[in-house]
Amino acid sequence: MRGHNAITVGTLLAGAAHAYAGSGVVQWDIHKPERRQEFNRLRKRASTFEEVITNEQARGGYFATCRLGTPAQNLTLQLDTGSSDIWAPDSGAQVCRSRTSGNSGTINPDLSTTFDVVGKGDFNISYVDGSSSVGDYFTDVFEIGGATLKNMTMGLGLQTDIPYGLVGVGYAVNEAIVGQTASLSSVYPNLPVQMVNEGLINTVAFSLWLNDLDSNSGNILFGGIDTEKYKGDLTRINILPTVKDLFTAFMVSLTSLSAASPSGADTLTSKEFPIPVVLDSGTTLSYLPTDLASQIWKEVGAVYSSELEVAVLPCNMQNSAGHFSFGFAGPNGPRINVSMDELVLDLTSGRPPIFTSGQYRGQDVCEFGIQNFTEAPYLLGDTFLRSAYVVYDLMNNQVGIAATDFNSTNSNVVAFPSRGAQIPSATVAPGQSEATAVPSVTSPAYAASPGFTESAKPGATKNAAGGRPQAFGMGQVVVVGLSMGLMAVVSGVFWVL
Ligand SMILES: *[C@@H]1O[C@H](CO)[C@@H](O)[C@H](O)[C@H]1NC(C)=O
Ligand SMILES: *[C@@H]1O[C@H](CO)[C@@H](O)[C@H](O)[C@H]1NC(C)=O
Ligand SMILES: *[C@@H]1O[C@H](CO)[C@@H](O)[C@H](O)[C@H]1NC(C)=O
Ligand SMILES: *[C@@H]1O[C@H](CO)[C@@H](O)[C@H](O)[C@H]1NC(C)=O
Ligand SMILES: *[C@@H]1O[C@H](CO)[C@@H](O)[C@H](O)[C@H]1NC(C)=O
Ligand SMILES: *[C@@H]1O[C@H](CO)[C@@H](O)[C@H](O)[C@H]1NC(C)=O
Repeated sequence: MRGHNAITVGTLLAGAAHAYAGSGVVQWDIHKPERRQEFNRLRKRASTFEEVITNEQARGGYFATCRLGTPAQNLTLQLDTGSSDIWAPDSGAQVCRSRTSGNSGTINPDLSTTFDVVGKGDFNISYVDGSSSVGDYFTDVFEIGGATLKNMTMGLGLQTDIPYGLVGVGYAVNEAIVGQTASLSSVYPNLPVQMVNEGLINTVAFSLWLNDLDSNSGNILFGGIDTEKYKGDLTRINILPTVKDLFTAFMVSLTSLSAASPSGADTLTSKEFPIPVVLDSGTTLSYLPTDLASQIWKEVGAVYSSELEVAVLPCNMQNSAGHFSFGFAGPNGPRINVSMDELVLDLTSGRPPIFTSGQYRGQDVCEFGIQNFTEAPYLLGDTFLRSAYVVYDLMNNQVGIAATDFNSTNSNVVAFPSRGAQIPSATVAPGQSEATAVPSVTSPAYAASPGFTESAKPGATKNAAGGRPQAFGMGQVVVVGLSMGLMAVVSGVFWVL
């Protein structure tokens, strides 16, 4: 989804992706451009390809430089696990024409000798926030992570309100064309499938390492895992079918959530447990049911701003020693801890606004990484995903999940050995059927709450900008990259079944 209340600043930062070829895996590193940190963790491996992905906070999301057409045009695309098509705006599309030249977010089909329209007017994708892109399906050469796909089917956005394209790596049945035709027979091989078809990787799977909020890059590795990018055990849990046996999204079962700080620990409750949550790299923040989100806000002292329609908190809470522990797939399933420094985000690209009244009067305002949403499916976006190393296995309908190893500079890539092979080095979570246990809905004691705020050292804030502080008011606030969710609207598969 894209945010219902997003006001996006159009500061387009150029991404710098580096790609190296291998056979069998493709890794795509992701960069956060504002720090210009160069990573060089790509290497030749059997059956995997790795690509750098850039964390662009101003746009909200992870971007990579791909190449398309003959001769190749450079193209910066957002990586999205919540949708399933690759598409890019046509350089002549209305939304792009107003921009200055040098925008590598668009393509010019006239300049590619291998460009071939295969579905005129058939491309039509809508995201949850109402943004969309409409145009043609075409095939052309596509390069990512040093891997060259000779015949990739993609969308060309002729009418769109999104100024850059996407690389959707979700299930092929969630392609926009399936929704448009209401027929599973219109499924085409999307990127992870086509990589297998063209013999580049062994199975339909990839791993995503987003790394620290304060780091500018992570990577995506197609066809393998990197055992040096996580700590502890890599645990396999089941992806939940959308209907019957049909898997359309990376939806897993969130079965517990606890808060811990120097003053104590609490088990949080929700009438919605077990909560179906979609792991969506195309969404900046995370969205949980209101009853659960309200408890999380109370723990950290976040307040809901009805003006901005988001929960906010003082920026110095990034220094808080507290953390949240997300439990998946039942009581014996994996747990991922997310610390406060991953959950406090800048609200603006310039000077931070300040609270003009209330308990935080005079302090800088930041956005909280966990927001509330009205209905399932709920979303765990980048504010959660940075703390996890996640392997997406689309053949076995499982994800492998482990605590991330932030800023790891080591690498040990292990390719999936064959089509349909299980995730390497991973053990299956026991007792996943217990994930359906009836939840407790008693109110927590908030023993952790004082520790969250007391441990937050005042002063050194994320927004150490000088100058006169601005008042906190909608008129002055330009929200950046807020909830740039890009989960495709659930498609026509429901019609089919
Ligand atoms: C595309 O990117 C590559 C690598 O960064 C660069 O060498 C090349 O000049 C770029 N091509 C164009 C047409 O901008
Ligand atoms: C695209 O799809 C939407 C939703 O299915 C539909 O309302 C709209 O008319 C379509 N647009 C075009 C140009 O076909
Ligand atoms: C390219 O891919 C399309 C869609 O998968 C397929 O219909 C077509 O036959 C392929 N063309 C070649 C030359 O392989
Ligand atoms: C990772 O690197 C970033 C950028 O250098 C740094 O700000 C951050 O504190 C590091 N994170 C950890 C957990 O070491
Ligand atoms: C995660 O948090 C839980 C609960 O606060 C704690 O018991 C556990 O040791 C933490 N795990 C790691 C790896 O830090
Ligand atoms: C989120 O919570 C606030 C405060 O309780 C409420 O006003 C708002 O409607 C909720 N938003 C959603 C999307 O449920």
